[in-house]
Amino acid sequence: MSKNSSLPIGVFDSGVGGLTVLRALRERMPCEDVVYLGDTARLPYGTKSTNTVSRYAVQCAAELVRREIKLLVVACNTASAVAINPLREAYPGIPVIGVVEPGAQAACRATRNKAIGVIGTESTIAGGAYHRAIHAIAPDARIMGHPCQLFVALAEEGWTDGAVAEAVAARYLNSLFHPASGTENPVVPDTLVLGCTHFPLLAPAIRSVLDRAVVIVDSAATTAETVYAELARLGLTRPEEGCGATVYLTTDDAARFARTGSRFLGTPIAEHDVELVDL
Ligand code: DGL
Repeated sequence: MSKNSSLPIGVFDSGVGGLTVLRALRERMPCEDVVYLGDTARLPYGTKSTNTVSRYAVQCAAELVRREIKLLVVACNTASAVAINPLREAYPGIPVIGVVEPGAQAACRATRNKAIGVIGTESTIAGGAYHRAIHAIAPDARIMGHPCQLFVALAEEGWTDGAVAEAVAARYLNSLFHPASGTENPVVPDTLVLGCTHFPLLAPAIRSVLDRAVVIVDSAATTAETVYAELARLGLTRPEEGCGATVYLTTDDAARFARTGSRFLGTPIAEHDVELVDL
C-alpha cells in the first residue's frame, strides 16, 4: 500500500450518481484531492448481471489505481453490492470502501421498530447485500427491499420533483408504507435506506409519500465519515490546509457529464475540466 498521504482519493460510480457521495466527501474532507471516474458509457449498472458489474468495477478501479490513489471509494450501490470482494481481492494494498456497509450502519442507528425499507436498483435489491449488511449488525431486523429502477432515469432527466416524480414514488412505495386496510399484522418500516446514488435527488418526492416519522437514510455522509476514519487510522489524512482539487474522468461525452453532473454535485462542473477515458 502507498503510505503517501498527498495522493488523491479515487472514487468511481457507473455515472454521475456518485457525485452525491463526492459532495459528502468534499464537505467532510475539503483538503483532500479526489479523482472521480463516472463510467457513463456503460450506465446503468443496476440492470446488469453480477459478473458484468464486477468486471466493469475492476476496470474502473484499474484506471484509478494506475493514476495512483491512497484509497478507493466505490460510490455506486450496485457495484458496492456485488463487486466489493472482487475489488478487495484485485487490490489488496488499497483500502476499498463501499456505500452499503455505511448505509446499513446508519439504518440500524436510526430504526426504532427494527423494520427497515431498502430501495435501490434491481441488481442491488436482488443481490441482497443490504440484507446481509443490516443483519450482520441487527440480526432481528426485518428488512423490506424494493427495486425502484425508474428513479434512476428520473434523476438523470432532472424530473426530481413535481407530479411525475411523486406519482412514481407513490407507485413504488405505497404498498410498503401504506398497507391495504385489512392486512393482518402489517409491519411498516420506520426507516428507509436510499440504496442508490441517484435517489437522494428524489428525497422530497419520496418524502411526500412517507409519514413524517419515517427516517430517510442517505449513506453519503456516513460513507464520508467512514473514509475519514480509515484514512486517519492509516495515518493518510492530508494536513488541513488549502482546498483539495478534483479531477473528473468519464467514459462518454464530457459535455453531458458536466451538465448532469453539476446537478448531482450541487456545484457547476466545467466541461473542460472533464477528461474522456477509455477503459
Ligand atoms: N450508481 C447506481 C447505484 O447506486 C445507479 C445507476 C446505475 O444503475 O448504474 O446503484
